[in-house]
Order: sequence, then C-alpha cells, then structure tokens
Amino acid sequence: MRVGIGILGGGTVGGTLARKLLEDREVIAAKSGIDLELVRVAVRDLSLPRVFPASYATDRPEDVVADPSVDLVVEVMGGLEPALGLVLAALDLGKPVVTANKEMVAAEGPTLFTRAASKGVSLLFEAAVGGGIPLIRPLSESLSGERIRRVLGIVNGTTNFILTAMESEGWSYEAAVAEAQRLGYAEADPTADVSGADAGAKAAILAGLAFGVWVGPDRVFVEGIEGLDAADLVYARQLGYRVKLLAVAEDTGDGVVARVHPAFVPLDHPLSGVRGAANAVFIEGPDIGELLFMGPGAGGGPTATAVLGDVIEAARELLAAAQVAPRIRFGPGTVLDFADVETKWYLRLEVVDAPGVLAQIAGVFGEHRVSIMSVWQEGRGDAATLLLVTHDAPESNHRAATDALRHLDVVRQVAATVRVVTDEP
Ligand code: NAP
Ligand code: HSE
Repeated sequence: MRVGIGILGGGTVGGTLARKLLEDREVIAAKSGIDLELVRVAVRDLSLPRVFPASYATDRPEDVVADPSVDLVVEVMGGLEPALGLVLAALDLGKPVVTANKEMVAAEGPTLFTRAASKGVSLLFEAAVGGGIPLIRPLSESLSGERIRRVLGIVNGTTNFILTAMESEGWSYEAAVAEAQRLGYAEADPTADVSGADAGAKAAILAGLAFGVWVGPDRVFVEGIEGLDAADLVYARQLGYRVKLLAVAEDTGDGVVARVHPAFVPLDHPLSGVRGAANAVFIEGPDIGELLFMGPGAGGGPTATAVLGDVIEAARELLAAAQVAPRIRFGPGTVLDFADVETKWYLRLEVVDAPGVLAQIAGVFGEHRVSIMSVWQEGRGDAATLLLVTHDAPESNHRAATDALRHLDVVRQVAATVRVVTDEP
C-alpha cells in the first residue's frame, strides 16, 4: 500500500534519505509490503545542487506539510523554528512525523509526545541520538522493564572525530573541525558540536528515556572541548588515558542527573577505543548488566538509514488499520550453498621435517586452486608443526585440499582447521 513521504530539509540527511527512497523503493516494498513514494522535499535555497532530482524540491515547507498526497512528514531541517511549528502542524493534520532533530526533541519532547498521542499518530526520532545506531527503540521498548542505573556514552561524532584526529594524526583543531564539516558530521553551526550543546541535548533525551523523568536540556551540565589544550591529549596518553567528550546520565538513588564534559578514559576501557565519528553508548542496569551500542554516530548514510527505519515503522502503524502485509516478509532470493562460498582457512599440520615436504604440501593447495597467504614452521627433530593461512578460495576447494593433505605420507596429522574471518569483504 502506498504512503506519500514529504521531507522538510534536503541537506546531508534529507538529501540522502530522498535518494534512498527513490533508489530503493522496490526493495523496501518487497521487504515491508509498503510502497513509500517520495512526494516533495523542502529546502531553503532552490539554486543549490542536490543529490535528488530538482523537480522534488520546493522552498515552501508549509506546502509539503499540507499537501494531501503527503501522508507522513520527515523533519530533517534542524533547529527549533520553523521546525517545531511545522511538526506540530503535521501532527494536527493526523500525519505521523519522523525527525532527527535532537535539539527540538530535547527542548519540546513532552509537548510533541503529548500532541502525537492526542492525534493517535507516531512521532519517531531514532536518528536524534547515536546517528545510525539503533538506540532509542532498544532503550524505550526492549529495556522498558529494566531499572536502568546509568547511561554513559560518546554521543557526538564531530568532537570524537576532532579529538581522534588531533591525538592520533596530529591535526590542528581548526583542520579537524573543517574536515568534520566537509564529511557532513557537524551541525549547520559546528559551535553546537564543540560546545557540547549537541551532546547535551542527546544526554537530556537519553536521561528522559532511561529514567522516565524529563530532564530537559537546560538541566544538563555541559562543558565542551573548546577549552582543551592539545598538550593534555598527549599527557593523557602518557598517563594511560584518552580524552573523550562523555555524556553521562545517572540515577543516583536520590534523583536523576545528566552531564556532558571532556573526561580522561582509561586506555583499556572500551570507550577509549571508539575512534573517528563513531558513537558508543553503555547502558547499565541491575538485571541486564552492561550493554554496549556502538556504530556510526553521524553522516548522511547512517543517519538517513535510521530515519528510513522510523519511516517504515510509522508507515506500518499508519496502515495498521488497513491490515497491511505481515510485519516480516520474505521475497524470492538466492540461498547459497556454503561449499560455494569463498573462505580463508588456518591449518595446523603435523608433518615430517625433511627436504621437499613443504613443496608437496604447497603442491596439494595449488592443485585445488587454494593460494597460501602465510606459512610458519616450528621444527622438532624429524617432525615439525606447520601453520598455514590461506587466501580466499571456495570452501569446497579448501575441504578437498585438506582431504588430499590427509593422504600425503609426509603429513602425519591435520591437527586443526579454523576458518579466518577478516574485515575484507
Ligand atoms: P543540513 O545539511 O544543514 O540540512 C538542512 C536542510 O534543511 C537543508 O536542505 C536546508 O536547506 C533545509 N532548511 C533549513 N531551514 C529551512 C527552512 N527554513 N525552510 C526550508 N528548508 C530549510 O543538516 P543535516 O546535517 O542534514 O541535519 C538535519 C537534522 O538532522 C538536524 O536536526 C541534525 O541535528 C540532525 N542530524 C544530523 C546528523 C548528521 O550527521 N548530519 C546526524 C543525526 C542527526 P538548504 O539546503 O537550501 O540550505
Ligand atoms: N553533529 C552531530 C554529531 C550529528 O557530530 O554527532 C549527529 O547527531
């Protein structure tokens, strides 16, 4: 069933979302049973180049909201106004809203949630915290039965990118800020990132969802990274720490508190290893223990993907009364036989240590078109242990080569075979 989508904002996030909606319409329909049709995209400056066809662009966002062929509104223009007025207008028309605007949600959350509920429509904001990381839904749904004690995280990609580049690459503060802007991580005004205000809004949202108490951005203690001296990043390393801009939301037992500030984090703590624009959030509770969510916290692709997930969810709820297709659907596709899939193997062979042994073993791999990446041998008298790692080759070739090795007189035992999984595709 068709759902018309109007997007307010066609920049880093909105532009990518528009492109994804156009390119992936059939794939989304096959997976979700919902036909998402892009109707209009509101921008400020019609003369700027876009990553979606110019025919979709308008500089009248109120017309996008009011358009009867727009069933669902996505707000990715940012800031408080006119975004808030437009979102409230959409809700009043009974149109679900998806937003990535943490500033607006943190400042006006209770108003927005109440208005959406009174109109019986969704207001979803997965991308407002943690960019592409699924965080809002796990926190507000999956963990709604846990007494969360603390949420601790790196929630601003720009500042993490800046701190990583300064510390590891020796970049200047100014160069790192400029690169974060170029890569689409930074807010329209990067002051919101480096001052800690962006992380502060996210900390307010996290605290509200974790503890069920609306903290609001004005009650969050915020200190940014502008006052940091590059020398202290170096001293931190010497002392066994890395400097991170941390957001902390806690229920102390006496009440709820949220704060954002630079912090020395021990080098062996997982948060200290979070690099570049990545975000990571720990959630701690008495029964769940400790959860870690980590991934790309900023940028058009990750953020638009999180927004699109919300769009599909909101569209599904919109169509629920009309009995859309089942929530999970399976379409035609190819399921591969694992024997045909390319794998890398580690092998430990117990072999005779004599001239020509390695050549025989290499010959077997060659016959089965398996290329060897590395070999390490440890000799023990007339015997030796041989460790090999292969390049990618079909699983069936590896199996056949290993069977053939077992029949070689010089191989006393194929003592171990373990598949090697690397980051390479
Ligand atoms: P952006 O690149 O600056 O895009 C904003 C878009 O909104 C632009 O297309 C702009 O038009 C349009 N716009 C702004 N004011 C408008 C107005 N009054 N009327 C019509 N159009 C208007 O910002 P973004 O990075 O996509 O961020 C959008 C939202 O997503 C923000 O709330 C941000 O906090 C949030 N977010 C961003 C990221 C990220 O990594 N970028 C991640 C998570 C959440 P022009 O293009 O003509 O200027
Ligand atoms: N400017 C934000 C950041 C975008 O750098 O994390 C994601 O909210």
